[in-house]
Amino acid sequence: MSTSDVPVGALDTGSGAPIGATAPAFATGAPSLTSLITKLANEFFSEGAVRQSAMSLGPLATPQALSSPVSESVLGPSVATGASALGLQTPAVFSGIPSLGVVGGDPMSSALALPPDFQSLLQLVPQRDGQAPDVAQAPNGSPTPDAAPTPDAAWASDAARAPDAARAPDAARAPDAARAPDAARAPDAARAPDAARAPDAARAPDADVGLPTSFTELDTFSFRPEVVPQTGTGAAGRPFDPYAVRRDFPILSTRVHGRPLIWFDNAATTQKPRAVIERLKYFYENENSNIHRAAHALAARATDAYEGAREKVRRFLNAPSAKNIVFVRGTTEGINLIAQSWGRRHVGADDEIVISWLEHHANIVPWQQLCSATGARLRVAPVDDTGQVKLDEFERLMGPRTKIVSFSQVSNALGTVTPAHEMVKIAHRYGAKVLVDGAQAVSHMGVDLQALGCDFYVFSGHKVFGPTGIGAVYGTSEILEHMPPWQGGGNMIADVTFEKTKYQDAPARFEAGTGNIADAVGLGAAIDYVESIGMENISRHEHDLLVYATAELARVPGLHVIGTAREKAGVVSFILDGFRTEDVGAALDREGIAVRSGHHCAQPILRRFGLESTVRASFAPYNTCEDVDALTAALLKLEGNSGGQRS
Ligand SMILES: Cc1ncc(COP(=O)(O)O)c(C=O)c1O
Repeated sequence: MSTSDVPVGALDTGSGAPIGATAPAFATGAPSLTSLITKLANEFFSEGAVRQSAMSLGPLATPQALSSPVSESVLGPSVATGASALGLQTPAVFSGIPSLGVVGGDPMSSALALPPDFQSLLQLVPQRDGQAPDVAQAPNGSPTPDAAPTPDAAWASDAARAPDAARAPDAARAPDAARAPDAARAPDAARAPDAARAPDAARAPDADVGLPTSFTELDTFSFRPEVVPQTGTGAAGRPFDPYAVRRDFPILSTRVHGRPLIWFDNAATTQKPRAVIERLKYFYENENSNIHRAAHALAARATDAYEGAREKVRRFLNAPSAKNIVFVRGTTEGINLIAQSWGRRHVGADDEIVISWLEHHANIVPWQQLCSATGARLRVAPVDDTGQVKLDEFERLMGPRTKIVSFSQVSNALGTVTPAHEMVKIAHRYGAKVLVDGAQAVSHMGVDLQALGCDFYVFSGHKVFGPTGIGAVYGTSEILEHMPPWQGGGNMIADVTFEKTKYQDAPARFEAGTGNIADAVGLGAAIDYVESIGMENISRHEHDLLVYATAELARVPGLHVIGTAREKAGVVSFILDGFRTEDVGAALDREGIAVRSGHHCAQPILRRFGLESTVRASFAPYNTCEDVDALTAALLKLEGNSGGQRS
């Protein structure tokens, strides 16, 4: 066996029947996007009749939305005026993502697609009584000395938070008139001719790809007038405006192949706002020093900035104390830290580690390595055909030997929002510790660790508008206190003799050597930035985009969305009949649209759907409906140009 082979303890893929509806882990807010609402309202009013649509309007997910008044300033003149003139409230409420069909409905079919090396990892545990065979699931601060240097607080509220005056005068910040006028914002005619909008008959026949044939749910356009909640303001008090957010990101005004950049690769990494870029510059120009150790002024400034960032991470996650926050390079390093430090101490032969089929490789491989070193077994909770974790199957995997459960709050490949609260509770009932991988969650939804109740949480700064090479591990005090360091060196020690070393308490114990000081400070600035926009606004906007994109992409013949869970964050993963995903990615790139095509470092979940790769568009607060329109138009063009000459 080569050294790259990872011998794993018996890997259990779970089994059983689908579960019923699970309690939503993520209360998806009602849409508030002016253009989405405008489009839907205008289409409805102009067509004047119920029409078939791939989108079904359901009840609001947020109760408060039911009682909020429609606001013209929120909706924009055309909708608010049009709707209220007719005595109607605005039709902009969606409760879930329609099921557009899933490839590989039969899990066994994807089992056949597993390559031999992966099959060899599937050393299935014996079947338990009354359970379907496991194989059925296996398809596959210190003082600031000078008044002059800008302390973090002042920075955050002034320069880094880019006061309006310093950034863009209000008038320039996309007042309705200055923004793209409604007509210019992709009116139907300017977007895609009706004929090109994939009437049902023009869609790829289901039989071609083995999709479910029933689209009954999708064939009904039910109009349920609801009230759109007032769009909130961020901490900085500015109303949410994706066009203003967009202007905060210098790279978004760059051109690619002569076209304006549309960044839909946010799940891989997010772009950085000016506030973060300038904070890094400020650090290197005014504060740069190693931290904690020297008596000079710059050491104090750098230490202040670094520890200030730790406090910002604490606040961002609602952790009880900054001592619960350990800086690491990112999610991957965080999971490895936990697996190696906590895992080596607490996981032994025949113990069990439970993950889910949705996991990123970063939440698979470190556990395989731990299993290999300790003789523990890796067990994998299955997902249903929408890409949601089957909670009852998950619970069935729990037992007295389950030592730790580790799962993503949001799947990077499909966008599924897992029922994290329920999963934490279930795991705790069996005495297991829980690690939640928040890499994809932190930029899409508010995280409250005290409410979530997990034992560990990890995330990467670059996924939430911060720099690369910095992230954080949260651990409860009880656990961190008793966890051994995983690396030794400077910074993490209290005293060293040749005979014995005394370690620092957490978090310093886990931060050996010189850390990524500047980027930690940059992460703090990113958190300030997110808070200035308001996480609720971000979640709502991305939800709107997801609903809009799901409906719009359904107009592209032969396009199939992979991952149709009811609870999803801003990710649309898809395949296009007859096209290789890399060719789709390259064609979109030529239009200036950056998407990810590939396996998204999550091969097991794609193979669960019988696939090796998908195209993934993932959203951020700077994306707009026009970006989605451009994506749809580019895909329609690609499809239309193929003339049957597909690869
Ligand atoms: C869900 C999930 N977990 C872990 C990771 C790994 O993150 P990083 O590469 O920043 O360590 C990613 C990155 O895409 C991810 O999406």
